[in-house]
Amino acid sequence: MFSRNDRSVDLVQGYWRASDWGMTPSELSRFIHQHVDLGVDVCDHADIYGDYRCEALFGEALRYDASLRAKVRVVSKCDIKLTSNSYPNRKINHYDTSAEHIKTSVDNSLERLGVEQLDCLLLHRPDFLLDPFEVADCFEQLRSAGKVKRFGVSNFNVHQFDLLQSACASLPLETNQVECNVLRFGCLDDGSVDRLHGLKRRPMAWSPMAGGELFNPSDDTATRVVETLRELSIEYGASLAQLAVAWVAKHPAQFSIIAGTSNISRLKELQRGYELNLSREDWYRVWVASKGHGVP
Ligand SMILES: NC(=O)c1ccc[n+]([C@@H]2O[C@H](COP(=O)([O-])OP(=O)(O)OC[C@H]3O[C@@H](n4cnc5c(N)ncnc54)[C@H](OP(=O)(O)O)[C@@H]3O)[C@@H](O)[C@H]2O)c1
Repeated sequence: MFSRNDRSVDLVQGYWRASDWGMTPSELSRFIHQHVDLGVDVCDHADIYGDYRCEALFGEALRYDASLRAKVRVVSKCDIKLTSNSYPNRKINHYDTSAEHIKTSVDNSLERLGVEQLDCLLLHRPDFLLDPFEVADCFEQLRSAGKVKRFGVSNFNVHQFDLLQSACASLPLETNQVECNVLRFGCLDDGSVDRLHGLKRRPMAWSPMAGGELFNPSDDTATRVVETLRELSIEYGASLAQLAVAWVAKHPAQFSIIAGTSNISRLKELQRGYELNLSREDWYRVWVASKGHGVP
């Protein structure tokens, strides 16, 4: 699904913030049609988004317009257990990669989304108590049952990725969804992106606009980066948002970038950013501004 040179996954639509959008099922179904029409058909979810409400909102939109189901590909995640009114017995937030929790979580996601199969299931966060062999068996069972087509991880370091991949002999971990934007790009230092690159699988980049911080810089790093992007903006005739996308897209691992916007014209703008080819020197100008020092 996240194979190299597959342009259909250059941009993915994220649904983390969907419960804040205040859209009715008819408005959300229109929004889904609009991003699908732009060629953005992969929708990124997690069971916990919006305190367990975002998947259900998406499901209502799919039920409102049944023609949508065949047009979207759905990614969801599991393993974070949040304290929530929906789960009053939980005392603290924690992780759970037991087979029992993964299977229950997938069943709940399928029901909320109103779909019969997830195109891809990601483990949301590395669980210190993860048993790779138990997870591998569970993934096989979910695949055989037709509930999940493909599997991957999110926020895993290279060792955590390798451990799980070594147990999942017949199941390639499709991707590792990591934070990557002009303000925060630890994934380029910690080996997680390099591992996927070597395996010719595309990493997914979350929060490409640094969660909107780019448009409201709140510390010295953000201020420096935004100043640099403003200079580049004049040189390239592109917006800050486009340059932020172009910076992530320049990385040869071929990130699939997850947009979080609820605004279709902004999504179109980000698409054009993916086409922009920053020079190497300009890519490093942003790197230097973000790190606050020159290259070693
Ligand atoms: N795996 C993980 O741990 C993890 C963690 C966080 C996120 N994610 C995934 O990544 C997705 C994206 O994250 P994110 O929402 O933080 O993405 P983002 O693109 O960094 O931030 C989106 C926010 O920026 C605002 N924004 C303001 N001006 C914008 C512009 N010109 N262009 C684009 N956005 C603009 C958007 O508001 P408007 O809606 O008004 O445009 C929205 O509130 C999530 O939906 C989720 O699927 C995964």
